[in-house]
Amino acid sequence: MSRFVVTGASGLLGLNLSLKISAFDEVFGIANTSPLKGLPFEIQVMDLVNDNFEKDVLEIYKPDAVIHCAAIANLEECEKNPDLAYQTNAVVPGEIAQQCKKRDVKFVHISTDAVFDGKSGNYSEDDPTNPLSVYAKTKRAGEENVQNQNPDAIIARVNFFGWSLSGTRSLAEFFFTNLITKNPINGFMDVHFCPLYVSHLSDLLIKMVSADLSGIYHVVSSDQMTKYEFGCAIADQFALDHRLITPISVNDSNLKAERSLNLTLSTKKLSTSLNVSIPSTLDGIKQFSDDYRNGYALKIRNYSIEN
Ligand SMILES: NC(=O)c1ccc[n+]([C@@H]2O[C@H](COP(=O)([O-])OP(=O)(O)OC[C@H]3O[C@@H](n4cnc5c(N)ncnc54)[C@H](OP(=O)(O)O)[C@@H]3O)[C@@H](O)[C@H]2O)c1
Repeated sequence: MSRFVVTGASGLLGLNLSLKISAFDEVFGIANTSPLKGLPFEIQVMDLVNDNFEKDVLEIYKPDAVIHCAAIANLEECEKNPDLAYQTNAVVPGEIAQQCKKRDVKFVHISTDAVFDGKSGNYSEDDPTNPLSVYAKTKRAGEENVQNQNPDAIIARVNFFGWSLSGTRSLAEFFFTNLITKNPINGFMDVHFCPLYVSHLSDLLIKMVSADLSGIYHVVSSDQMTKYEFGCAIADQFALDHRLITPISVNDSNLKAERSLNLTLSTKKLSTSLNVSIPSTLDGIKQFSDDYRNGYALKIRNYSIEN
């Protein structure tokens, strides 16, 4: 049995990942402002920017691996608070990477497809980055800090969807919630991406730790689609009306943070290193709906102290 620490354990990825690990290994979660209840694993509330992770977590819990999911992951919030975004997304990962290196603890840093400018697509791990928004720039700086401090670390560039604590965190939840209430919405027809279901992402991250990989990996779905097509696929899977979704250009939205248009990534390095086939987005949407029908979405929501 291994001992894992998962930061961002109240977030979309961190919570789903921690629940998965807790079924067979020990996991200790770190949240910041969202205390949870009734979890099958231990959780501590701390601010990674100001509190002492090494003394309060590594020294006491002595994990075999840290999976660092905590971040300011909201692009618009990063534009409003660039200094806090830099501290959280760039400085903190470098510090934890260095502490893990010192203690021989495997470190996994969660990064993003948004480190690319999206001018070409189908990016490999060796392609040059060119982040556009404050969020993307701070995440790329986080990658560099982690690489400098801990060359053994895994850096996973991800894009994912799933059921979250608030029910509003992922794009899939946005489409589902609006479609089921028959609320007309827009879907970007010019933003291409490779979203992986969070359960599939969690499985792959656990396999990457077991295989003791290191370096940068693209951990996204094996296929690609536009955000509009993604919304329609959710509608079809739940037998909802995809005509409620209007295809629009991202340039016609009033979002402040600049978005990269083609964030499709190649997963060849990952599938070869692990000798596995990577699930598609459509596989994920099917599982997303099966999990809903099995009560998983409700189970996640019920961990919130607000429910
Ligand atoms: N969602 C996506 O599709 C996507 C795409 C690409 C990359 N990513 C990356 O994937 C990772 C996970 O994203 P997510 O969508 O799961 O994020 P999320 O749902 O927004 O959760 C963020 C987590 O970080 C925690 N956090 C933020 N500031 C903190 C601080 N100062 N100290 C301690 N914890 C702090 C939050 O804690 P509280 O909520 O308790 O405050 C929360 O648990 C991030 O690194 C993100 O950049 C996400």
